[in-house]
Amino acid sequence: MKISIIGAGYVGLVSAICFAKMDNEVTLIDIDKDKIHTIGKGISPIHEEGLDELLGQVPLKVSTDYLDTMSSEVIFICVGTPSDDRGIILEPIKKALERLAGILKTRQDYCVVVVKSTVAPGTTDETVIPILEKSGKKAGKDFGVCMSPEFLSEGKAINDFMYPMRVIIGEYDKRSGAVVNRLFQNFNAPTMRTSLKTAEMIKLASNAFLATKISFINEVGNICKRLGVDTHEVAKGMGFDDRIGPKFLNAGLGFGGSCLPKDLRMIITKAKALGYLPDILEGVLKVNDGQAMQLLNLLKKHIRPKDAVIGLLGLAFKPDTDDVRDSRAIGIVESLLQEGATIRAYDPLAAKNFSLLFPQIEYVSREEVLDSDAILIVTEWEEFRHLDYTGKIVIDGRGIIKAREARIYEGIYW
Ligand code: UGA
Repeated sequence: MKISIIGAGYVGLVSAICFAKMDNEVTLIDIDKDKIHTIGKGISPIHEEGLDELLGQVPLKVSTDYLDTMSSEVIFICVGTPSDDRGIILEPIKKALERLAGILKTRQDYCVVVVKSTVAPGTTDETVIPILEKSGKKAGKDFGVCMSPEFLSEGKAINDFMYPMRVIIGEYDKRSGAVVNRLFQNFNAPTMRTSLKTAEMIKLASNAFLATKISFINEVGNICKRLGVDTHEVAKGMGFDDRIGPKFLNAGLGFGGSCLPKDLRMIITKAKALGYLPDILEGVLKVNDGQAMQLLNLLKKHIRPKDAVIGLLGLAFKPDTDDVRDSRAIGIVESLLQEGATIRAYDPLAAKNFSLLFPQIEYVSREEVLDSDAILIVTEWEEFRHLDYTGKIVIDGRGIIKAREARIYEGIYW
C-alpha cells in the first residue's frame, strides 16, 4: 500500500521503516529539515536496536513537503505530544493536521488519516476531525479516520512493531477501519476494531496499568524493606500465579521515560475533567515521585552528601537507550545538587543527552564513578552487573546482585 507517515520521531521513524520492510511504499514527512536530511542519508537520529541496519536496507522516501502525502492511501499522524505542568500540548499535532487539511482540500480520491500519537480520549472526535474538515471535505465520505495506538517499547521497538501482541483499530466508520485492517492483516496478531475513543482509552489504560504494576511492587517494596525481606524474591513468588504474571514487577527506582509518566498524568487529568477523582492512579504517581527520595534517604544513612563526591551509574530512563526523558536520575541529581554534593556520572549512551539538562555535573568513565565516596546505581545497564564493587559504598536502585560485594551495600527494596 502507499503510506505516508507524518512525524519522524521515535514512533514515526520506526513505523516508517517497518512498514517499508513489509513492502509498502512509504513516505516519511517531517518539517524538521535537519532530521529529514539525516534520515535521508541513512542515519538514524535516535538510538534504537536494529534501526540503523534497516534504514540502510529498506526503500524509504523522506520529505519535508506535505504535498508528498498526495497519493497515499493511508496517512499516519505520529507527531509528538509533549506535555507541561498544565497537561498535554496539542499544538504540534494541530499544526500538522492543518497542513494536512490544506492537502485534503485538493485531493479528489479517498484516503484514511490514522492518529498514532497518544492523545486523550475524545481528541480524535473533538479536535482531529474538525481540523481535517476545515478542508471542506467530510469525514466518512471524502476521507476516513482511524485511531490506532502504538505499543512500542524503546530498545525493542522494531520487534514490538513486527510482532505486536495486539493491533487496535479505532474507526470512525467501517470503511475507514477496513482500509487500516488490510494494512495490518499480515501481522498475525489479535486485531480489535472499536470506536475512536475506545482505542484512545485502551492505549492510556494499558500504560496506566503497567505503571500501576510498578508502583504496586514498589509499595510492597517499602513494606519488605522494613521487614528485612527481598522484594525481588516476593515478586518472583507472586509471578508464578498466571493471574499476576512475572512481568513489570521489577521493584526499584520506578518508572520514567516519555510514555508511562506522561500517559498516567494524561488519564488523571482527563478523569478529573470528567468529575472523577482517580485515587489509585494518583497513588501510582505519588509512589513513583517518592522513589528518588527513598534512595537518597538510604544514602544519607551512610554518608553526608554535602561536600561528598557521589557517583551515579546510569542516567537513561532504562537500559539500552540514550533517552533521559523523565529519567529517575533527574530528581536524584536535583536533590544532590541542592544538598551541595559533587556529582560524577557515567552512562554508556545517555551522558550526552543528560548533559544538556545538567551541564554542571561531571561526566566521567565508569572507573572514575567507582572512585567516588559513594555510588548510586540508577539504571540497570548490563555492564554494571560485572563491575568490581569491593571496598565501595553502593546504594542500589535497580537490583545489581554483583554490587552486594561492596563494603557497604544497601538495596532500595532488598
Ligand atoms: C512503555 C510501554 O512499555 C510500551 O508498551 C508503550 O508502547 C510505550 O511506553 C509507549 O507508550 O510508547 P517504554 O516507555 O519504552 O514503553 O518503557 P518500559 O519498558 O515500559 O519502561 C518504563 C519505565 O518503567 C522504565 O523507567 C523502567 O525502568 C521502569 N520499569 C519497568 C520498572 O521500574 N519496573 C519494571 O518491572 C518495568
